[in-house]
Amino acid sequence: DWTMAAFRGEAIARIRAQVGKGKVICGLSGGVDSSVAAVLIHEAIGDQLTCVYVDTGLMRLGESEQVVSLFRNHYNIPLIHVDASEQFLGELAGISDPETKRKTIGRLFIEVFDREAGKIDGAEFLAQGTLYPDVIESVSAKGGPSAVIKSHHNVGGLPDFMKLKLVEPLRELFKDEVRVLGVELGLPPAFVGRHPFPGPGLAIRIPGEITPEKVATLQKADAIYLEEIRNAGLYDQIWQAFAVLLPVKTVGVMGDARTYEDVCALRAVTSTDGMTADFYEFPWAVLAKAATRIINEVKGINRVVYDVTSKPPGTIEWE
Ligand code: XMP
Repeated sequence: DWTMAAFRGEAIARIRAQVGKGKVICGLSGGVDSSVAAVLIHEAIGDQLTCVYVDTGLMRLGESEQVVSLFRNHYNIPLIHVDASEQFLGELAGISDPETKRKTIGRLFIEVFDREAGKIDGAEFLAQGTLYPDVIESVSAKGGPSAVIKSHHNVGGLPDFMKLKLVEPLRELFKDEVRVLGVELGLPPAFVGRHPFPGPGLAIRIPGEITPEKVATLQKADAIYLEEIRNAGLYDQIWQAFAVLLPVKTVGVMGDARTYEDVCALRAVTSTDGMTADFYEFPWAVLAKAATRIINEVKGINRVVYDVTSKPPGTIEWE
């Protein structure tokens, strides 16, 4: 794509002009935007860039490992991988209110990120994968550390990393353009084509209280569901697809015995921007296969249901 090739060159020149010999910290979320920003900035300034990936323990199955290996091994980009999952899951224990979950995760994220960023001596800049829609949307619930902080004015004084100068090379781009740029930069197409994933991660896909066991159960069900969607060649037609682990037990039968286990809800929607969405009309066979596999392969789930609510009136996420 010649326009993206041109954009790439101009963006690199702008980053070099802005940063000079300064050090840059980039908060990786595991998503497409921050990853593309990091690869672009690395191409411009090499090892002046250090990425920080805060692992909340609330990612999809295997995704943290994929991000770390992509950046460290494939791109050779200096990356600090902070496994904060015990801290996140510890502090989330007993919390079931959705907004309290989000606030807890936001506060912890800022704490952990600030602590790690503080260890990078002499950093002057903070890189973010802010897109054009994020720029025009004044208060966004999404995005990296600075977006999080906007909704948490109550933390008492700005954390140190918020005093850094911002480097936001994707500010003029829309999501589809970022994907083209990502491919241009050599990111695997399957990686840049990934569905959006919310900052609070699986925490908002486990209505009620979160436990490490529930997270592990949900990760397995979700991975099977996505694998079946990919196998059926439907992944790219869908805006987001994911499993939800309900805090509801129902009765089932397994052989001669009755079971009494959790319900898993499957969700898939089409959308262009996430503001409105239609539930996805699956071929039944795909859903049936996913459901059968989840019940057979995931301990603790004995029933699967499909969500046929569009947005509005529903939201895409369940919390
Ligand atoms: P809803 O559920 O509001 O979701 O229809 C719309 C889009 O936003 C994502 N989402 C979030 N993203 N932090 C995020 O970074 C959040 O707290 C959050 N809540 C929802 C959701 O996945 C969908 O793409």
